[in-house]
Amino acid sequence: MIENKNNNTIVDQAEKLRLMVQTTRKSARVVAVTSGKGGVGKTNVAANLAICLAAANRDVILVDADLGLANLDVVLNLNPRHNLSDVICGSRRMDEIIRSGPGGIRIVCGASGLSQLADLNEFQRQRVIQEISTLEHQADVIVIDTGAGISRDVCAFCEAADHTVVVTTPDPTSITDAYAMIKRITRANTGSKISLLVNVVESRGEAKKVFQRLNATSQKFLDVPLYDAGYVLRDEHVVQAVRRREPVVLAYPRCQASYCMLALAGKLGRAGQAAAAQEGFFRKVVNWFF
Ligand SMILES: Nc1ncnc2c1ncn2[C@@H]1O[C@H](COP(=O)(O)OP(=O)(O)OP(=O)(O)O)[C@@H](O)[C@H]1O
Ligand SMILES: [Mg+2]
Repeated sequence: MIENKNNNTIVDQAEKLRLMVQTTRKSARVVAVTSGKGGVGKTNVAANLAICLAAANRDVILVDADLGLANLDVVLNLNPRHNLSDVICGSRRMDEIIRSGPGGIRIVCGASGLSQLADLNEFQRQRVIQEISTLEHQADVIVIDTGAGISRDVCAFCEAADHTVVVTTPDPTSITDAYAMIKRITRANTGSKISLLVNVVESRGEAKKVFQRLNATSQKFLDVPLYDAGYVLRDEHVVQAVRRREPVVLAYPRCQASYCMLALAGKLGRAGQAAAAQEGFFRKVVNWFF
């Protein structure tokens, strides 16, 4: 009798613990960083944003999902033994290739230099996105650095994210391509938020003009308001940091670009709190595929 009672107590305690673990499980917000035109600063924004969020005590995983020209490992001076290509071909799980990176973040390195991965088939794409969804309970935020342009792969990451940050420069071709990207994401109608970040600007005023123009066009023709993710000033320290293979916020924490990255992290953090009740990444992936 006494033994039974004790056993029951242990079972009860185990059940309580299980429930406690379940209720304290993390459910990460997924932020995709993308652009229409290439070379506008996505990788730098994604890496530095991830580090700023980690500095604010968020548990952050940064995923290099640029399947054509992955280069986060180059920018952050990492020499990964395994990368996303191992996950795509099925030889590794996502949690087996994750590694620690600068500033306390964890990183999934991309499938660099494997041109056959530039365009995944439906099965491979589904595998990558589902593997990313397995990270959802291991972090507060998952930042995905995507490739540029309206490819099926890039759009799949954006559509599955809670929040997409579209990066543009003030260059008219970059703005036009950013609008095309916004249109494509909006058409998928997943309900994910879209923010605009204007990079390599000379002044706050220049960024404001770009934002107002794109926001007005998006509202008028797509019926979608854009969130203002802010701007990053043109700053030679970003170029220097890339040469040093260090994120600018760690290499030059007091430069103008670093302050802009911090401001971006602050804005997204607030947007995250407001959308705390949003549905998770996996749910959206399921919706997207089926
Ligand atoms: N705010 C900035 N000020 C000055 N130079 C910048 C800034 N942001 C980015 N750059 C420059 O632009 C280069 C390209 O940046 P990055 O690799 O982040 O672009 P990307 O959009 O990820 O490119 P890709 O489309 O090839 O993936 C950097 O190496 C850096 O030299
Ligand atoms: Mg890049």
